[in-house]
Amino acid sequence: MANEWLERWREGRIGFHRETVHPALLRHWPALDVAAGGKVLVPLCGKSLDMRWLVEQGHPVLGIELSSEAIEQFVSEGAGEVSRYRQGHFDVCRQASIELWCGDFFHFHIDQAHEIGVFYDRAALIALPPAARQRYAFHMAQLLLPGARGLLISLTHGSGPDKGPPYSVDHAEVQRLLSPNFELTLLEERPPDERRWRESVWSLVRRGPGRE
Ligand SMILES: C[S@@+](CC[C@H](N)C(=O)[O-])C[C@H]1O[C@@H](n2cnc3c(N)ncnc32)[C@H](O)[C@@H]1O
Repeated sequence: MANEWLERWREGRIGFHRETVHPALLRHWPALDVAAGGKVLVPLCGKSLDMRWLVEQGHPVLGIELSSEAIEQFVSEGAGEVSRYRQGHFDVCRQASIELWCGDFFHFHIDQAHEIGVFYDRAALIALPPAARQRYAFHMAQLLLPGARGLLISLTHGSGPDKGPPYSVDHAEVQRLLSPNFELTLLEERPPDERRWRESVWSLVRRGPGRE
């Protein structure tokens, strides 16, 4: 799967990438009521412009992405000096308040996540095949402290074989995967688009008191 993503980036097959900030982020982020200054974890971040918007709201960002191509494109389209360093399994590229960790999200360790109480998942859970989704939900719960909050934007498709990515992750699955460790609220469900995908926006709060 990792090779497929790297190939997609090399060949520019990145139909998931948006040229504007995601409207659901604009609509729902303010209601999360997170204090400016809190670092936002953006798993499987691609070169999403949502990260720049989060910085404009006063949040440092820590994005994690497999593809160095994606990261190089992101920083070349941004402004500011770039510094690079190694952290465990990751090559980190830092530009202003954005750190992009190049590597496998599942290698990102709890000790590297100590400052993180906020997160944003757009097209991360739905980028993963079924077994990896279970692992993702567990890993997020491990990384985040009780009270950590964030948005999750998922996709469902009415019918047909699930040949992702993107994968169809219906409401029951979102709840099954995440409700053991997060309080979930469905904020919005969009009507189906022309390809019959429906987008849903969830707010999540990591339950306490301990990490499980
Ligand atoms: C569907 S795209 C979404 C990107 C971004 N969140 C956005 O909204 O544009 C999924 C991204 O996850 C990356 N990815 C897939 N598996 C990963 C993993 N295990 N660790 C880190 N990144 C991964 C892919 O390279 C791809 O850029």
